[in-house]
Amino acid sequence: MQLNGFEKTLVEQTGIRATKRAKRKNPEKEYQKQGGPEIARMNTMTIFTDKTAIITGAASGIGRALGAELAQRGAIVVLADVQDKMLEEVVESISIGGHQVKAVTLDVTDVEAVKAVVSDTAAEYGKLDYSFNNAGIAVGGEVRDCSIDDWRNVLDVNLFGVVNGVTAAYPLMVKQGFGHIINTASLEGLIPFPNSVSY
Ligand SMILES: NC(=O)c1ccc[n+]([C@@H]2O[C@H](COP(=O)([O-])OP(=O)(O)OC[C@H]3O[C@@H](n4cnc5c(N)ncnc54)[C@H](O)[C@@H]3O)[C@@H](O)[C@H]2O)c1
Repeated sequence: MQLNGFEKTLVEQTGIRATKRAKRKNPEKEYQKQGGPEIARMNTMTIFTDKTAIITGAASGIGRALGAELAQRGAIVVLADVQDKMLEEVVESISIGGHQVKAVTLDVTDVEAVKAVVSDTAAEYGKLDYSFNNAGIAVGGEVRDCSIDDWRNVLDVNLFGVVNGVTAAYPLMVKQGFGHIINTASLEGLIPFPNSVSY
């Protein structure tokens, strides 16, 4: 039987399968009645346990927060960034709770280096469950303020950094038969802002 969106969520998050009758009557009520929200909440707390994740741009901002959160939820986290000093501090602070965190100095514009981080991670931990392509830069200014090098840097990191991450992780994940690739994007990709044209 083909599952609809609600049923898929129900089964994936809770393992509960709504009966045909309950589904017809009120699937949401059935979900609540069977404790769906609580089971889903518990699952989100444990879903990352023993999972391996690479996060680029992890020395600061979103990547850093993501690393701390995943580590707290039991994941083995490989934090990658060009800023090695900052990265070491982040790793120190996250490992205080006894979490498994590793720092890797990485420039995401270097495709061979990105591939090496992916293959080293898979070799060390036996798999790669999540690849977060999060590293990004912004150069402010209008068109007249941006040099060709500014454009190139922004495209190299924000576009090709992601392409490199996807290219490196995807074949491995296909081979494994599982895995998730998550690329951080920006609303500015859809709605251009006048003062950050290259971004
Ligand atoms: N902060 C926001 O409001 C916002 C909104 C939408 C999207 N984003 C995107 O989210 C991502 C993270 O942004 P953030 O706000 O946490 O920024 P951030 O500046 O705090 O962090 C970005 C990290 O990427 C690293 N980095 C830069 N170039 C790199 C390279 N070549 N190789 C490896 N690491 C590199 C930096 O060292 C830094 O640690 C970026 O892709 C950004 O475009 C941010």
